[in-house]
Amino acid sequence: MKPRGILLAGNWKMNHGPASARGFFEGLPFSKKPGATMRVYPSFLTLQAALDAVKANGQEIEIGAQNFHAEKSGAFTGEVSGPMLEEIGIQQVLLGHSERRQYFAETPAVILKKTLSALHQGFEVLLCIGETLEERNSGQTISVLTHQLESTLADPTCAEAFGKTLHLAYEPVWAIGTGVTASPAQAQETHASLRALLTRTLGQSTADAVQILYGGSVTPANFAELLACPDIDGGLVGGASLKPDSFGALWNLI
Ligand code: PGA
Repeated sequence: MKPRGILLAGNWKMNHGPASARGFFEGLPFSKKPGATMRVYPSFLTLQAALDAVKANGQEIEIGAQNFHAEKSGAFTGEVSGPMLEEIGIQQVLLGHSERRQYFAETPAVILKKTLSALHQGFEVLLCIGETLEERNSGQTISVLTHQLESTLADPTCAEAFGKTLHLAYEPVWAIGTGVTASPAQAQETHASLRALLTRTLGQSTADAVQILYGGSVTPANFAELLACPDIDGGLVGGASLKPDSFGALWNLI
């Protein structure tokens, strides 16, 4: 068993409405595994159907939201707040995904604001970071990741939450949805550097408690090798989380 446990999280992005989510969970072979958690992040519209489906099927699967507005209510057309999510029983949020950064102009400051609001409201946050191919090729991976994390690391609320209600997903942008995954050695090297950064800033025991998931073209063909790496605590999976067969196969590799 891994020291921090294993989290297998599916990021459905803008896929699966309520009816297809029900079909997904019906077709998903799920059995409890000690030290492992399965979580799915459906769209806002699908959250309730997903919660109902896992309950009806007796599946202990966590359901989280892919986004979240930092304000609790007000004139923010098209947005969804923490109290709304809490009302239907959501306790998990995914923040900082590279698609939010790239297509919705979420800067580190915006992401920090959302993260703080989520933590203050009692949500558990999985915070995504990752470098582009250009940044990797020019040797900037660690400095980019450090920059993405530095305001979070410097914030006392986040510092206190790390390893408890705040965990990380390392997702190299060049590996997301491309079929090109980081090699286990590349991923482990980056995860180890991230843990070293956490150790320097927050101390060893906090760093040891933070789950760092790998994301980017995870499939049943590469997941076992990635999971074998000491600093990889699970996977954040897009494409391979959409079908019960492939997501179930990933779960079976744990
Ligand atoms: P992918 O997406 O598994 O399809 O590469 C991962 C993600 O964006 O979280």
